[in-house]
Amino acid sequence: MLNLCFLLVFILGFVLWSQEFVPVNSQLIDEDGENDLVTLSAIGKELGLIDWGENGVKNSSNYCLWPHITCSANHSYVEKIVLSHLNLQGNISLISKLKSLKWVDLSFNTFHGSIPQAFGNLHDLEFLDLSYNKFDGLIPSELGDLRKLRSLNLSNNLLMGSIPNELEGLVKLQDLQLYTNRLNGSIPVWVGNLTKLRVFTAYENELSGKIPEGLGSVSELVLLNLHSNYLEGMIPESLFANGKLEFLVLTQNKLSGSLPDLVGNCRGLSSIRIGNNELIGNIPKEIGNLSSLTYFEADNNKLSGEIVLEFAQCTNLSLLNLASNGFSGIIPPVFGEMINLQELIVSGNSLFGEIPVSVLMNKNLNKIDLSNNRFNGSIPHSVCNSSRLQYLILGQNSLSGEIPHEIGNCVKLLELQLGSNYLTGTIPPEIGRIKNLQIALNLSFNHLHGPLPPDLGKLDKLVSLDLSHNQLTGNIPLALRGMLSLIDVNFANNRLTGPIPTFTPFQKSPNSSFWKNEGLCGYPLNSFCGNINGSETFHHKVSYRIVLAVIGSGLLVFISVTIVVVLFMMREKQEKKAKTVGKEEEEIEDNNKPLVILGSVFVENLKQAIDFDAVVKATLKDSNKISSGTFSTIYKAEMPSGLTLSVKRLKSVDKTIINQQTKMIRELERLSNLCHDNLIRPIGFAIYEDVALLLHEFLPNGSLAQFIHESSKEPVYKPDWPVRLSIAVGVAEGLAFLHHLAIIHLDISSGNIFLDSNFKPMVGEVEISKLLDPSRGTASISAVAGSFGYIAPEYAYTMQVTAPGNVYSFGVILLELLTTRVPVDEEFGEGVDLVKWVQGAPMRGETPEQILDAKLSTVSFGWRKEMLAALKVALLCTDTTPAKRPKMKKVVEMLQEIIDSK
Ligand SMILES: *[C@@H]1O[C@H](CO)[C@@H](O)[C@H](O)[C@H]1NC(C)=O
Ligand SMILES: *[C@@H]1O[C@H](CO)[C@@H](O)[C@H](O)[C@H]1NC(C)=O
Ligand SMILES: *[C@@H]1O[C@H](CO)[C@@H](O)[C@H](O)[C@H]1NC(C)=O
Ligand SMILES: *[C@@H]1O[C@H](CO)[C@@H](O)[C@H](O)[C@H]1NC(C)=O
Ligand SMILES: *[C@@H]1O[C@H](CO)[C@@H](O)[C@H](O)[C@H]1NC(C)=O
Ligand SMILES: *[C@@H]1O[C@H](CO)[C@@H](O)[C@H](O)[C@H]1NC(C)=O
Ligand SMILES: *[C@@H]1O[C@H](CO)[C@@H](O)[C@H](O)[C@H]1NC(C)=O
Ligand SMILES: *[C@@H]1O[C@H](CO)[C@@H](O)[C@H](O)[C@H]1NC(C)=O
Repeated sequence: MLNLCFLLVFILGFVLWSQEFVPVNSQLIDEDGENDLVTLSAIGKELGLIDWGENGVKNSSNYCLWPHITCSANHSYVEKIVLSHLNLQGNISLISKLKSLKWVDLSFNTFHGSIPQAFGNLHDLEFLDLSYNKFDGLIPSELGDLRKLRSLNLSNNLLMGSIPNELEGLVKLQDLQLYTNRLNGSIPVWVGNLTKLRVFTAYENELSGKIPEGLGSVSELVLLNLHSNYLEGMIPESLFANGKLEFLVLTQNKLSGSLPDLVGNCRGLSSIRIGNNELIGNIPKEIGNLSSLTYFEADNNKLSGEIVLEFAQCTNLSLLNLASNGFSGIIPPVFGEMINLQELIVSGNSLFGEIPVSVLMNKNLNKIDLSNNRFNGSIPHSVCNSSRLQYLILGQNSLSGEIPHEIGNCVKLLELQLGSNYLTGTIPPEIGRIKNLQIALNLSFNHLHGPLPPDLGKLDKLVSLDLSHNQLTGNIPLALRGMLSLIDVNFANNRLTGPIPTFTPFQKSPNSSFWKNEGLCGYPLNSFCGNINGSETFHHKVSYRIVLAVIGSGLLVFISVTIVVVLFMMREKQEKKAKTVGKEEEEIEDNNKPLVILGSVFVENLKQAIDFDAVVKATLKDSNKISSGTFSTIYKAEMPSGLTLSVKRLKSVDKTIINQQTKMIRELERLSNLCHDNLIRPIGFAIYEDVALLLHEFLPNGSLAQFIHESSKEPVYKPDWPVRLSIAVGVAEGLAFLHHLAIIHLDISSGNIFLDSNFKPMVGEVEISKLLDPSRGTASISAVAGSFGYIAPEYAYTMQVTAPGNVYSFGVILLELLTTRVPVDEEFGEGVDLVKWVQGAPMRGETPEQILDAKLSTVSFGWRKEMLAALKVALLCTDTTPAKRPKMKKVVEMLQEIIDSK
């Protein structure tokens, strides 16, 4: 309907325009110029550019005044044409008739088909940007004729084949951006001969062969990004020869050899990312010469030797990731001097010695991961004197001694992993003070004894608790029922006694979570306690169903496929290891190719394109891993058909619901029919052994959270306001659609919204944690670290997610888009989140303008006006009183009004 209206308006506008337009007579314009006018009018017609028409009514012939166009100084020729972000499609060949063009920007549209060969005729062209479209086919060799070209950007299209040799002629090229296409073959040697080259990106393609020897030696290379290809051979020394390099990203290739010593030549080098390759050797001491170094990421290689203490000279270093290599020796105490260090990740090496206290003292340290090494000694008492630490990961080492009481000072911790060490003593009750603990508390496989401190019950955000394989004694305290967010629990292999308290997360656990505690009794164990307890549990189960039904009838909870698939999971783990030997490549560790027991694709026209074996294979390779959460890991999977999928691998099995399979299958099919442009839709699932894989469309632009908060890491593209506004509208439309069907979403956060290649937002499905059972889902909404800061204040009393609660969460996202700030940030002050910070602006004497991200609001008056209007909407949405918040449908209208009032 809307489309139809648009079409009508468009046709009407077009008719008016073309009538007004016909008489062309202007003395200003010479013969060539007149040609430009004719050409432009034809382009306008082909692409449906209404605003050229409207302006044409008044200034029909003086096209130099039209928007999107810039003429030469004497107003004769069109020199520049900028048609980005206009959602255009159509035949762009005609543009090649504007012979004087120097600048063409057609980025962020939906142009498809081949790039016109005729573009090779634009001999004056200096800047060509066709990025973020759907161009396919080969890169035309005719582009090699553009001898004056300084910048070529073909990124984010569907281009295939190899980089044509004819481009060798582009001798003035400074920027060459080819990322996210399907280019194959090798990087041509002549790229190394481009003396002006400053920026070269070709990441996320299928390039193979070597990085050309000599690349960088004669050029001005500042940025090289080639991650996620199949490149092999060495990292050429020439990259560092000139000393100009600032960003080097070669992650996820098959590069071998070592990092050249010459790297020390590049004083301005701030980012080195060479993880997931096959690099060997030491890290050169010359690394200490890189005074600007901020990121050093070399995980998952075969690097060895000691961790060089020269890193300590890089005072700006904020992330050092050397995980999964062959490093040995100690962590140099001088690392404490890296005052900007935020993350130190060295898991999976052969490091030993004591936990480096000097590093722990570092005020900015946010994450320390020493797991899976041979660290010994005890956990220092000064552990959280610097109180920012959010991740303390020390599992799988040889730590001994007691857990210090000072662990209670680590109040910011989200995750505490101390499992598989030799820790002794009792569990310090002070752990209960770590109120932020959400992701996991793991003390398993140690020698802890004594009782469970009731204080653990104060950890009301904790999702996963593992105390198994210790010598803990006494009862499980009733106070543990305060752990409202608990999902995963393990007390097995201790000496606990008495009844298992009646607490849903306990009774929902598999009985193995309580095994091997001689004195424990009650459900889910098979041993009855002899008195009241057993029957009480059953009553509890019944009331649980009622709760479920009530919620189900009132607000249909937005559950997803995930539920169902969990149900399919087979009880027997290992029996199905069918051996299929043969055609497999050796890259998979063993030859036991898992057998897919059950799989289905819901989307008819994708059935041919999906190969379950390829899906399974993709999840066996760590290099395909995109992200990893508490309950699932997401992988990228390339199908032989060329289709790319995102595959979610579920980690835990809940056996208690296996019996309801058929009912759940029906539910699953129903949900897969839930179809909206702004909702992620399940494509299918596959099951092997005890593993379930959920298939979704692959969304190349990551999550909205990454887009807003991490874009500064990616120097190439900065999100602008119109993109953000259209994202807000998309999210609002998706939610309005759900609410229209009386479906409430349980996890609205910018981390759960994903962007497709055109930056269209797609609201993601609910985390598995909330799916095992909807009533538990509502109860543990705060369980997922990412949702923090999005939860409406009334939730604390109601414990129910409601439609107005969704509106609140949406308001938080809108504030994120407007302010470029995260929902929870220490900068706001104690107990103040983004919403309170914004609401508190008048009291701090700040104007609304000061709230907005100045990088956007100062670009133009128009943008600022729109941002202020959107801020009003965000404030309505985040009103403390749920009843005062607008309905989602109304929100869509208000945002749409902002766009229309341009
Ligand atoms: C039309 O041109 C006149 C002068 O040639 C200019 O003053 C006016 O602003 C133009 N109108 C538009 C809509 O560009
Ligand atoms: C306009 O300027 C261009 C160079 O910018 C020149 O080639 C052309 O001859 C000029 N045309 C007129 C009509 O002055
Ligand atoms: C685009 O238009 C040109 C003529 O202007 C024509 O030669 C070409 O075939 C067209 N391309 C497509 C894909 O229709
Ligand atoms: C394409 O690349 C050029 C050169 O690096 C850059 O100026 C331009 O902003 C890029 N376009 C987009 C949409 O990122
Ligand atoms: C590149 O891809 C094309 C089309 O997919 C294929 O025909 C060609 O053989 C590939 N070339 C190389 C070097 O892999
Ligand atoms: C690159 O330049 C060198 C020296 O100018 C020349 O010998 C070589 O042939 C060139 N290589 C290519 C592939 O153009
Ligand atoms: C570079 O590092 C090496 C090894 O640490 C050192 O000997 C050398 O003096 C440094 N060079 C400069 C210019 O700082
Ligand atoms: C270190 O970082 C700060 C802040 O980003 C910057 O101002 C400074 O120039 C950097 N130091 C070096 C040596 O690059």
